[in-house]
Amino acid sequence: MKWVIDTDPGIDDAAAIIAAINLKIMDVVGITTVHGNVGLEHTTRNALKLVELLDSDVPVYRGASAPLLKAPENASQFHGEDGFGNTFLPEPKRNVEKTHAVDFLIQAAHRWDGDLSLLTLGPLTNVALAMAEDRSVQHKIRQIVMMGGTSKARGNTTPLAEFNIYADPEAAAIVFSSGVPIVMVPWETCLDAMLGPDVVAKVRESTSKAGVAFSKAMDLVVSRLHKVLGVEGLLLCDLVAACVAMEPSVVKEKVAARVVVETGGRYSKGLTVVDERMLDGVSPNTTVCLSCDKDRVGEMFLDALGVNHVNWRCSK
Ligand code: BDR
Ligand code: CA
Repeated sequence: MKWVIDTDPGIDDAAAIIAAINLKIMDVVGITTVHGNVGLEHTTRNALKLVELLDSDVPVYRGASAPLLKAPENASQFHGEDGFGNTFLPEPKRNVEKTHAVDFLIQAAHRWDGDLSLLTLGPLTNVALAMAEDRSVQHKIRQIVMMGGTSKARGNTTPLAEFNIYADPEAAAIVFSSGVPIVMVPWETCLDAMLGPDVVAKVRESTSKAGVAFSKAMDLVVSRLHKVLGVEGLLLCDLVAACVAMEPSVVKEKVAARVVVETGGRYSKGLTVVDERMLDGVSPNTTVCLSCDKDRVGEMFLDALGVNHVNWRCSK
């Protein structure tokens, strides 16, 4: 199975990309970038910096710079002005591909018809545009593993909405109604899978290029979390989704549901409406992951950074 990672790096996107590339479980054929945590120029540059850091030849395609209808959001308070914890890694030597991300997604869907999966870690603008431009795309994509939405309507951007969905609700509505099977890793599940101080300490032990760079970048997340939630930990939502994509048994509890996205609503724009009962006879379009094995997520990330964690679980 081939994978495209659609992303807005982003510190947790970086963790997901490091794991996806270094663990070599996924056959990643491209990274497509989108507006989101920071502007498109930053997210694209960060994706290039990351593949270079990882000595990977996965091509990077630049995508949409703005949502379909609303103004762009920004989460630089969590990800830094550069989207990578204000570490301003060296400028990448590699160039972005000439093909637009949306065209690449369409080409990839045709080329690997039925064998292409998407790991989406940002607003869904690129994916929705590909589906709108070529209606056959939705029949060709095998599945989408998505970090996004909420399972219990506890948002992180508005009281009800999660960032990736709120940042482009119309795009998310198109994707959820496309018929492509979706595995959704919602905000609440990621919050429960927050990595503890033991993992933070282990990440700091890393001597690999990626580990050293990530250690610097994560300081911002660690200090923000300490300030906002009063806990010492690492909240890496996109990494959780990447681990679900790589190792589905990471999911401990899940439910099949019909999920639709609220695009209007004075208070509810961007809400993922999760209907588990489907009383009106609709069929499920989404597997909602309700809990994940956070120790396994921590282990996979430490593996990706080349940190030895033998005996780590039993010594906790
Ligand atoms: C999601 O929003 C972004 O800030 C993160 O990168 C993650 O994809 C969490 O709501
Ligand atoms: Ca992201």
